[in-house]
Amino acid sequence: MRDRPVELRSDTFTRPTEAMRRAMYEAEVGDDVWNEDPTVARLQSRAAEMLGKDAALFVTSGTQGNLVGLLSHTSPGNEVILGDQSHMFWYEVGGAAVVGGLQFRTLPNRSDGRLSPSEVAAAIRFPPDVHFPPTGCVAMENTHNRCGGAAISPAEVAEVAAVSHASQVPVHVDGARVFNAAIAFNVPVAAMVAQVDSVTFCLSKALGAPVGSLLCGPREYIERAHKWRKLLGGGMRQVGVLAAAGLVALEQNVERLADDHANAKKLARGLAEMPGIIIDPNEVQTNIVAFKVDESVDLQAFMDETLAAGVRMARAAGVPRTIRTVTSYEVDAADIDYALSVMSRVLGARTVALA
Ligand SMILES: Cc1ncc(COP(=O)(O)O)c(C=O)c1O
Repeated sequence: MRDRPVELRSDTFTRPTEAMRRAMYEAEVGDDVWNEDPTVARLQSRAAEMLGKDAALFVTSGTQGNLVGLLSHTSPGNEVILGDQSHMFWYEVGGAAVVGGLQFRTLPNRSDGRLSPSEVAAAIRFPPDVHFPPTGCVAMENTHNRCGGAAISPAEVAEVAAVSHASQVPVHVDGARVFNAAIAFNVPVAAMVAQVDSVTFCLSKALGAPVGSLLCGPREYIERAHKWRKLLGGGMRQVGVLAAAGLVALEQNVERLADDHANAKKLARGLAEMPGIIIDPNEVQTNIVAFKVDESVDLQAFMDETLAAGVRMARAAGVPRTIRTVTSYEVDAADIDYALSVMSRVLGARTVALA
């Protein structure tokens, strides 16, 4: 056992850096419900500038950003087209139905997270037919969490956006990890979302800030979003203390995401060598490494014994025999070596040789 665990459950476990804590301490603040917090204003304008949108709104979480994002595009009774593996469909508590009266229409996500543009085009429904709920929004996810952190290229995003816009349907991207996608394609993050109307991204994942996400889009859309955020209880007061950490995240933690991607690749390559593990390292593009554990391995014992040795991993919710690991600045290359050596030892002891 080492002096500290290897935290691979999620990049949401990142703790604020010293620079963030200092910035939080020193942050100039005001009442943000009155639009008087200068640090929030700076974060919002920096986020809008980086994402190439008119305006941005600081929200409490990725879930709130996506919900406010959908509500601001739609009316009750609208249909939202999105992938059947999307975070919004699986893990956001059905908020769009509860709060917005929205119906989700899922289309299959390919294993690389993509939606088929022709399927999106065919699924869009028009108001004149008395039977149909009109399509209010098409939503994509980039990187794609349940599809192993797959990064969808700007060209592929543009194809879906083009068919949606051809029917005047706006497009939202759940870009909780869109900076990871930009690093994977080595392009400015604005290029990842140039063709879509709105995007949510998270400061509190691999970018390392303790709290918060940004919804970015056209100015009058963000004004509507402001009101929805208030309705959801997301109007915060001297929240510049949190925005300050977000600004540090955007200044200092974007380029280094490449290290997380390299560590994820290293982890995937090592796992691919192990008996009982199913993974194609070529499919690992960003900081998420999902792998299957075959029937020859006692999965619970594997989880328990790796945890006892300080390697923290999580079962992928709703995906059988799958473990999801995520790299971040909490994990360095030596930690990956250690995690691999633990898994190799545990599997050596636990794998039942198949005849
Ligand atoms: C792709 C994706 N979207 C949205 C969210 C929601 O973010 P939050 O946990 O801040 O609500 C997550 C969280 O893991 C995510 O992975």
